Amino acid sequence: MSAKPLILMTDPAWFEVAYEINPWMRPTAWRADAAANGRAARRAFEALRGALIGAGVEVCVIEGARGLPDMVFPANAAVVLNRRALLGRFRPLERRGEEDRFADAFETLRRRGVIDEVARLPAGLFQEGAGDCIWDPALGHFWAGWGQRSSRAAADAVADFFGREVIPLELANPRFYHLDTCFCPLPGGEILYCPPAFTPAALSEIRGRAPAAQLIAASDADAAALSVNAVAIGRTIVMASPTAALRRALERRGYRVVGVDLAPFILSGGAAFCMTLRLNLAVEPALATTA
Ligand code: ARG
Repeated sequence: MSAKPLILMTDPAWFEVAYEINPWMRPTAWRADAAANGRAARRAFEALRGALIGAGVEVCVIEGARGLPDMVFPANAAVVLNRRALLGRFRPLERRGEEDRFADAFETLRRRGVIDEVARLPAGLFQEGAGDCIWDPALGHFWAGWGQRSSRAAADAVADFFGREVIPLELANPRFYHLDTCFCPLPGGEILYCPPAFTPAALSEIRGRAPAAQLIAASDADAAALSVNAVAIGRTIVMASPTAALRRALERRGYRVVGVDLAPFILSGGAAFCMTLRLNLAVEPALATTA
């Protein structure tokens, strides 16, 4: 198996902003010039793919499907760790049709030997994949967003399946409807986050687990640019066009920041992280699981 990070993306041929299931979505702006927006989306997708390849990533692209425009956000398809995938389940009706498509894609990945096991969530839970369940490479556990799209109890289901600790964080604000819109743990142990996204209890959880010096608070402008929705590959961070201040803050800590214009996808409430899904994240076995 290649040592390169392997990342899944979905071809944007069927992408559009056709409905509103989060406060970012602008179907009217999309329809005002759907053809030009479609071309811009294609360019933005290629720019992101190019930035990832430039950062040393191998990108695997699957087809989208007519009528399922948000398939371009495969972060929501599953949680993947150590060659095991737990398929997501969507709360909005508009996205439920994606579940079978992504299940087929994962079955293909299993047949190709990329993934060993593909599993379904227990009934009755919503869990929108890595968009709401982010591996922290420095602390060695998942952080799970809940309260907007994913169920609180899904955090326990993920913990059971992977045998890893999952720290639930309640999301307090509809603008931050997935954890990845407001929270990004970096390889060096820093956490880039938007404080207004979280309940007081979630904030104290974050602040209790990461030293203050490691917490980087994103500004309102960073949140509005969806730059926190970033992909970190070693010391390179790929994100939607960052503010100068955010770029400087990250560069001071030794990161190389690659900004990509993702405007057409921001019209749907998504940016770099949610347009990707890391397929070959591998971590050491947990020493012990706590009861
Ligand atoms: N329009 C999509 C939705 O609302 C955007 C999803 C972006 N994904 C993410 N993980 N933030 O579901």
